[in-house]
Amino acid sequence: MLELSNVNVDLAGHRILRDVSAKFEKGRTIGIVGRNGAGKTTLLRSIMGLIKVRSGQIFFDEIELSHLPGHQRAALNVGYAPEDRVIFPTMSVQENLTLPCEVQGQSKAQIKARIDTVLNVVPQIEPMLARSGSALSGGQGKMVALGRAVMVGTRLLMLDEPFQGLAPKLAREYTEALGRLKDMQPDICIVITESNIKLLGNIPDQIWTIERGSIALN
Ligand SMILES: Nc1ncnc2c1ncn2[C@@H]1O[C@H](COP(=O)(O)OP(=O)(O)O)[C@@H](O)[C@H]1O
Ligand SMILES: [Mg+2]
Repeated sequence: MLELSNVNVDLAGHRILRDVSAKFEKGRTIGIVGRNGAGKTTLLRSIMGLIKVRSGQIFFDEIELSHLPGHQRAALNVGYAPEDRVIFPTMSVQENLTLPCEVQGQSKAQIKARIDTVLNVVPQIEPMLARSGSALSGGQGKMVALGRAVMVGTRLLMLDEPFQGLAPKLAREYTEALGRLKDMQPDICIVITESNIKLLGNIPDQIWTIERGSIALN
């Protein structure tokens, strides 16, 4: 589904990703583990098209992403929960959830159906729907960020260090939500980064390590 081929990324004149080649297959859950500064966020941002790739290629269904205009990328059904969450504080939780679908031009009926799915996956969100984005605790924000990524991420879901700073109870709930998602959408590919491998428990089917911008595949 998603394939990186010899991807190099530079930031501020420094090589941050080095010759990254990796295949993300449907139905797989992949943990990407590496210490702070290893390049996990840069990798996800590059896949999302938020950072320009210096050389190499990123294919999604055999389409080279650099050739794809922004509005067509949205149709790829990739969801991304950044490590800093970015829940919009001036919007309600419900508006935070629907925004990415509206940007994609989905109909009201489609968005409603998708919200229902997300509330099945992350039922903790339901009582928060009318709440302001600014009224969420850190842990609640993580659950909403997961829900928002699931809203559009029907094929590929990328979660950047979701367990960082999550209390054990919430981490358990988060893990259970991912389990429900995989039951409901067995073909989804989930990518989860972490600096601490223990936090991933037995969620991933496979673990890759990233060190100074290079990925070792296991
Ligand atoms: N905007 C940026 N400009 C310059 N260097 C950056 C930028 N963002 C990240 N870096 C550097 O890239 C490396 C990888 O960062 P990052 O991808 O955030 O790692 P991780 O998510 O694994 O902690 C680090 O050395 C970091 O300092
Ligand atoms: Mg990071």
